[in-house]
Amino acid sequence: MLLAYLDPDQRAFLTRIAQAVAAMGGHVYLVGGGVRDLLLAQSQGQTITLSDMDLVLDQVSPDAIGELAQQMSRWRPGALVQPHPKFHTCDLLWPDLALDLALARRETYPHPAANPLVTPADIHQDLHRRDFTINAMALGLHPAGVLLDPFDGQGDLQRKSLRVLHERSFADDPTRLWRGVRYGVRYGLQFAPETVAQWHATLASGVYEYWRQQPGQAPALQTRLRAELHYLWQMAQWVQAGRWLEALGAWACIHPELHWTPALERSLRTASYVLRHHPHRHRCLTELLVSYVPPADRYAVAHCLDLPLAAQKRLAQLEHLETQLPALPALPVSQICQTLEPYEPELLWLALFRQRGNIRNILRNYLQYWSHEHPPLNGKDLRELGYQPGPQFRQILSRLRSAYLDREITDRTEAIAYVQRYFPRVSPGQ
Ligand code: CTP
Repeated sequence: MLLAYLDPDQRAFLTRIAQAVAAMGGHVYLVGGGVRDLLLAQSQGQTITLSDMDLVLDQVSPDAIGELAQQMSRWRPGALVQPHPKFHTCDLLWPDLALDLALARRETYPHPAANPLVTPADIHQDLHRRDFTINAMALGLHPAGVLLDPFDGQGDLQRKSLRVLHERSFADDPTRLWRGVRYGVRYGLQFAPETVAQWHATLASGVYEYWRQQPGQAPALQTRLRAELHYLWQMAQWVQAGRWLEALGAWACIHPELHWTPALERSLRTASYVLRHHPHRHRCLTELLVSYVPPADRYAVAHCLDLPLAAQKRLAQLEHLETQLPALPALPVSQICQTLEPYEPELLWLALFRQRGNIRNILRNYLQYWSHEHPPLNGKDLRELGYQPGPQFRQILSRLRSAYLDREITDRTEAIAYVQRYFPRVSPGQ
C-alpha cells in the first residue's frame, strides 16, 4: 500500500480527509507529484514527508471544496486559506505544507500557449490534462488504495523516462518543457524520443514565435514562462538545466537569438554568487538573462515577460551605458565617477555581471568604494574657512571630491591647502 511510505502524521491527515469526503458521498484522490514521489519512495524503501500535496475531489458539489477546506484548517490549525471559487479550487498553506484542493476538471486550450479553459469533469479526464505520464497518476484516498495510472507513469518512472500525454502537449503549453527539465535534473530522467521529436516539431512550426509576440495572449510564453525561470534559478543544478534547455533549443521561446552561451553562463554564475543572499536574486538573474537578447529587442522581451517596470527601463538603458564602458580604463577616477553617476546602481550591477577584467573591476570599485567617498571638507568646514554659501560652494566641493578621488589630496590639511590655493578668498576691499 503506497500510503505506507508517507509520514504517519500526514497519512492520518489524509485518512481524515478521506472520511470527510466519503461522508459527502464523493471521491478524493492524491494526484500529481505526491503519487510520483511516493512511488519513488516505495522503490527505495523510504518514508517521505510531502511539502506539497494536490488533492482532487470527484463526484461532489462545488461547495464541497469550501466545506472541506474549513474542516481541514480546523484539524490542522494555522493554515492560510486562499479559495478560488471561480476555478473551484482552494490553496491551503501551512509553514510545512502547501495543499491544493481542486474539483476534477477538463482543460482545453483555445490556442497555443493560452491559459486553458476549465470545465468540470471526472478524475479520468482530470488526469488527461496533465503534463507528463509520471505526473498523471491518482491514488485513491476514498475509494482507498486504488491507483489510477492510465498512461503507464509507473513504467516511465522505472524507465526514467519523461513522456507527454498527447501530440499537442507542447503546443498547448511550452512551459511543460521547462517543468520536464526540472524533473529530469531532479530525478535523473530523460525525455522519451517521441517527446523530444514533438518538442522540436512544435518549435519548428513557428507557433511560439507567432504567439510570443501577441501581447497578453500567450501567458505560457510570457508571465508563466517568467515564473518557470524563477523556479529554474531556485534549483541547485540550474546550470545543468540551462545547458539542457539550450540543447533542446528552448531559449528560442524567449527570443530566437537567445542562447545559453559560456559568456551568459559565466555572467549568471557571478551574479548568482554575488546575490546569493539578495531577496530578489531570482528576478535579477532573469533580468541578466534577458540582457543577452540583442539590444534592440531587450525592452520588448522584458515587457513580454512582464518584468517589473524598473527592470524594463534598465534593459532599455543598458546599451547606452555599455557604449561608455570601453573608455573608462583610460580615465582618472574622478572622470570615471562623472561618467557613471547618471546611472542607477542596479543598472551598473547588471553591466558589471556582463563584463570581465578591467572594466568589471572599475565598475566594482565605483559601486563599492568611489561612489560613497566624500572629500575631507564639507560645507560647514568651508564656512569656517570664511567662504560664503553660494554657487561657488558647489564648485569647490565638487573640485575637492575630484581631487580626493584622484588622490591629489588625501587628508584635511591637504584639502584646506588645496582650497586656499585654487579658490583664494577675495577680501571685500580688493
Ligand atoms: N500540472 C500539469 N501541468 C502544469 C502544472 C501542473 O500537468 N503546467 C499537474 C501535474 O500533474 C503536477 C501537478 O499538477 O504533478 C502538481 O503541479 P506542481 O505542484 O507544479 O508540480 P509537482 O509535480 O507537485 O512538482 P514539484 O514536486 O516540483 O512540486
